[in-house]
Formats: sequence, structure tokens, C-alpha cells
Amino acid sequence: MSKPLIAVTGKNGQLGWELQQLHASYSTAFDFIFTDREEIDLYRPETILSFFQKYQPQYFINCAAYTAVDKAETEQEKALKINAEAVGIIAAACTKINCTLITISTDYVFDGNGKKPYAADEKTNPLNYYGYSKWLGEKLALENCPQSIIIRTSWVYSVHGNNFVKTMLRLMKERNEIKVVNDQTGSPTAAADLVAAILQIIEQLSRGNKKYGIYQYSNKGIISWYDFAVAIRSISGLTCNVLPVPSTEYPTPAKRPFNSAMDTHKIAQDFYVELIDWQTSVETCIKKLAAA
Ligand SMILES: NC(=O)c1ccc[n+]([C@@H]2O[C@H](COP(=O)([O-])OP(=O)(O)OC[C@H]3O[C@@H](n4cnc5c(N)ncnc54)[C@H](OP(=O)(O)O)[C@@H]3O)[C@@H](O)[C@H]2O)c1
Repeated sequence: MSKPLIAVTGKNGQLGWELQQLHASYSTAFDFIFTDREEIDLYRPETILSFFQKYQPQYFINCAAYTAVDKAETEQEKALKINAEAVGIIAAACTKINCTLITISTDYVFDGNGKKPYAADEKTNPLNYYGYSKWLGEKLALENCPQSIIIRTSWVYSVHGNNFVKTMLRLMKERNEIKVVNDQTGSPTAAADLVAAILQIIEQLSRGNKKYGIYQYSNKGIISWYDFAVAIRSISGLTCNVLPVPSTEYPTPAKRPFNSAMDTHKIAQDFYVELIDWQTSVETCIKKLAAA
């Protein structure tokens, strides 16, 4: 008997790449197909439809997105097509063939004025266009595919791709002193941990634990970008001076929420997903980078 097929977009992004690293552990139960924009270009809906016609997957993991947060303020049409309209088209295509959609969203759907970690059903109010496009993507997924799971995540890093951990390591080697904002707080997420959670969820779904809707996943712990930088310095044994500064010292085209921490209990409860301390995962990533 053939195995259920899991299709993945954005195979060269942080999440897509980590999924490629992990997928062999699930290959007795599932087949996988990893795509880049040559095969599925979210800016060209016809490529989505022809993919579904050709492969008819049972699970579709959308790791691709327009992720340039500041550029999205000026490239609004592009961000909207990739992060929202394409997700709606994928969702409708999934519904037609009874495929489950897992698509990734962001902590930037919240305005960050709350003082506690945001629950999945709390009021959204994105401050920037990237956040708005992702919020609309969530809505279109849910409207077009009842078998959708949306996973909001935050502050993603990996040994692969561009991210805060790698930027900090580079800057700390190049400079004697760096400034990092200390008034934006949230939770880092190792892409490797998030993909393990996604595959755990698919395994659960395939065993009949069929739950859908909005979920949130990050590593455990709430910190500022400054705290994150200090931890990266300490784990890597670098000596660069790290200075805390307010966001006003770093004006960016896109506004960022001050508090973007999310409550992740629901994903742990519903799918038995393990929540891992942020320090443990940052250490693992930095060790892998040092060994590479
Ligand atoms: N990074 C974060 O801190 C963060 C935080 C919260 C949520 N998220 C969400 O998490 C998910 C994964 O993010 P990530 O960090 O893995 O992103 P990433 O490293 O920037 O990767 C994005 C991927 O999307 C692909 N892509 C962009 N435009 C495309 C298009 N038109 N058609 C097909 N593929 C396209 C890119 O392809 P190329 O390689 O060809 O450019 C790349 O493979 C996204 O949904 C993102 O919004 C990320």
C-alpha cells in the first residue's frame, strides 16, 4: 500500500531545510516531496494548481512565505499575494482532495500591547504589513479549508539561512561592541524544534487525533533581543560588549510589537508536543554551527 504523501513548500528556507534534515525519521510512515519556487511559486497560482493536480498530497506543509518584514511595507502587493492569496488557493485545493493543510504564521499578528503571553484566540491587530498579510493568510486558510492547522511561531533561527543567532555571532566576531534592543520581548524558536512539532502533529492526525485551527509554537521562556544576544555571546565564548538600547535607537520601516510572547499550552495539550527551553535549543544550534 502506498504511504500518505506530505508536500512541503519553501524547501530552502529555514523551516523547509530543517524538515529535509528530519524527514528520514518519518519515511517508514510517509512519503515526502520538497518543493522550491521552481515547482510551486506562490506568486503564480497556476503553479499551485498544477502541483495539486499532479501529486494529490494527503498533507501539505506551507513553509514558504514572503518574510522580509521591512520590505513588505513597500512591496505590499507581493507580500499579500504570497502570504495571503496563495494560502487561500492552497487551502481550497486541499479541501478538494481532502488534504490537511499546515501553514505557518507569526507572532506579528499581535500588536504587542498586552502584558501576558498571547493566547491563540486572543484579539489580533498587526502593526505592520507583513503581520497583516500573514493574518489574512490565516483567515483565508480557515475559510477555505476546515482541515487547516495554523501554527504561529516567533523569532525563528536555524543553522541554515539568515537569522538573529548567525547575525549576532558574525557581528560579535567583527566588532568590540554591539547595541541590541531590550524593550521587545518574545520567545526564540529553533526551526529544528518546530519541524519536529509539525511532524509529531501529522503523526497524531494520521492516528485519528484530528484537531484543527490556530496553534502557537515557540521555545519555552520569554526574553528580550538583548537577553538573547547576551546568551549567544556566553554560549559561544565571545567577548564582545553587548549594550542594551531602546527600539527608538533603531527605527525600522515596519513597527514591531513590544510583547510578542505567545501561550503555547494548546499545541502541547492537543498533540503531545514537547516544549523545549530556549537556552537548550540555542546551545544545540551554536554547537552545530561551531562543528560545521
Ligand atoms: N523567521 C522568523 O523569525 C519567523 C517568525 C515568525 C514566523 N515565521 C514564519 O515561519 C515560516 C518559515 O519562515 P522561515 O524563517 O523558514 O523563512 P525563510 O528562511 O525566509 O524562507 C522562506 C522560504 O519561502 C520561499 N519563498 C519566498 N517567496 C516564495 C514564492 N513566491 N514562492 C515559493 N516560495 C517562496 C523562499 O524561497 P527562496 O529560498 O527561493 O527565496 C524560502 O525558501 C514563514 O511562514 C514565516 O512567515 C518566521
